[in-house]
Order: sequence, then structure tokens, then C-alpha cells
Amino acid sequence: MTHAGRPSPAPLPGDLSLRHPVPSDHPRLQTALADWWGGLGGEAGALQRKLLVPRLFLQHFADTSFLVERPDGTLHAFLIGFLSRTDPATAYIHFVGVCPDGKRGGVGRALYERFFTLAHEAGRTRVRCITSPDNRASIAYHTRMGFHLEPGDHTDEHGTPVHTDYDGPGLDRVSFVREL
Ligand SMILES: CC(C)(COP(=O)(O)OP(=O)(O)OC[C@H]1O[C@@H](n2cnc3c(N)ncnc32)[C@H](O)[C@@H]1OP(=O)(O)O)[C@@H](O)C(=O)NCCC(=O)NCCS
Repeated sequence: MTHAGRPSPAPLPGDLSLRHPVPSDHPRLQTALADWWGGLGGEAGALQRKLLVPRLFLQHFADTSFLVERPDGTLHAFLIGFLSRTDPATAYIHFVGVCPDGKRGGVGRALYERFFTLAHEAGRTRVRCITSPDNRASIAYHTRMGFHLEPGDHTDEHGTPVHTDYDGPGLDRVSFVREL
């Protein structure tokens, strides 16, 4: 157990190691953002994801973000998150990615649980994040990780509540919240 009485985060599987990112990790994160999403959204989707993780996250939000490496130093997974400046109760997960070969191996859970612990220890009581309605794996994963889907302005063909044009015209999003 942690000192706060919460269960300890799940250990990282195998011989993976965890650290906070540094600005020089930016190029390989950009490669991962293009390659790890299974071609979601085509080239436009890859560019959108890359632009959503500029270097500033590794300069100014590194202490609330994580990077997982294999023993040879290659990138296995990452999480970009921060503590809300505006809402002192909230922590926010901006992006998470696990390499294609590593999916369904417990690394996503281990990263989220570390972030939950960090957020709790910083006095936060809830975590928020968003995803695209067509990222069905992300919706299944977040539901499994204890997030609730917030009501949207309509429900799609899967019964998922969607916020139309959330991030601009055509950029619909699903909004998640989890109490800590
Ligand atoms: C979504 C993602 C981060 C999940 O990471 P992961 O390491 O594969 O997830 P884990 O193995 O830790 O799974 C955690 C739980 O979610 C469930 N889960 C994970 N992916 C799932 C899927 N595609 N469908 C259904 N359940 C899923 C697991 O069964 C597990 O449940 P359990 O621990 O209760 O048994 C990973 O698949 C990924 O990087 N996808 C591409 C990038 C992406 O979509 N990121 C999210 C949006 S930014």
C-alpha cells in the first residue's frame, strides 16, 4: 500500500523501466504517435496526434508524465498528463500510448495507476481525459480502468455519448471522468 492508503500501482511487466520524459524524447514520441494508433485517421490523424504532443509537454509537464523503456532503451509506452491549473480537484491525462507488440500486457494499467497515485498524492480527487469516438479500443480500455463516459449531445451507433465538434469542426470527442 502507498502511505495514502491506496493500493500500490501494478508493477511494470517484465524488465521494463519507468522514468519521466525529457525534451530529447520528443522525436521518438512523434514516431510513436504516427505508428502506434493502427493508422487511425490516416495521415491526417497521424499529423493531428503529433501536433497534440508538442515539445512543451516534455519541458513543462515532465514530472506528471511517464515513459516506459525496454532494457535496450527503446520506447515501449508513454503517458502525458498534468495537474489542472484551473480546477484544483482535477488531474488530466492528455495522451497514452503502448507499442503495438506490448498492448494488452498490463502496461496501460500500470501507467494509469501510477498517474492516479501521483494525482491523489497531489490532492486531486478526479481524473479526466477525452478520446475520439472512433477509437473503440480506447473507449473499452478507459471503461475498464474505471472511467465513466460523460453525457454528450448525442449517442452514436455503439451507444457511446459523443460531444460534437468538441475540439473544432469535425473533431468530435468522448469525455471521461474517474473519481480517485
Ligand atoms: C489503449 C491502450 C493505451 C491500452 O493499453 P494496454 O497496455 O493495452 O492496456 P492493459 O493491458 O493495461 O489493459 C488494461 C485493462 O483494459 C482492458 N483493455 C485494454 N485494451 C482493450 C481493448 N482494446 N478492448 C477491451 N479491453 C481492453 C484490458 O483487458 C485490461 O483489463 P483488466 O486489467 O481488468 O484485465 C493501448 O491499447 C494503446 O496504446 N492503444 C493505441 C493508442 C491509444 O488509443 N491511446 C488512447 C487514446 S490517447
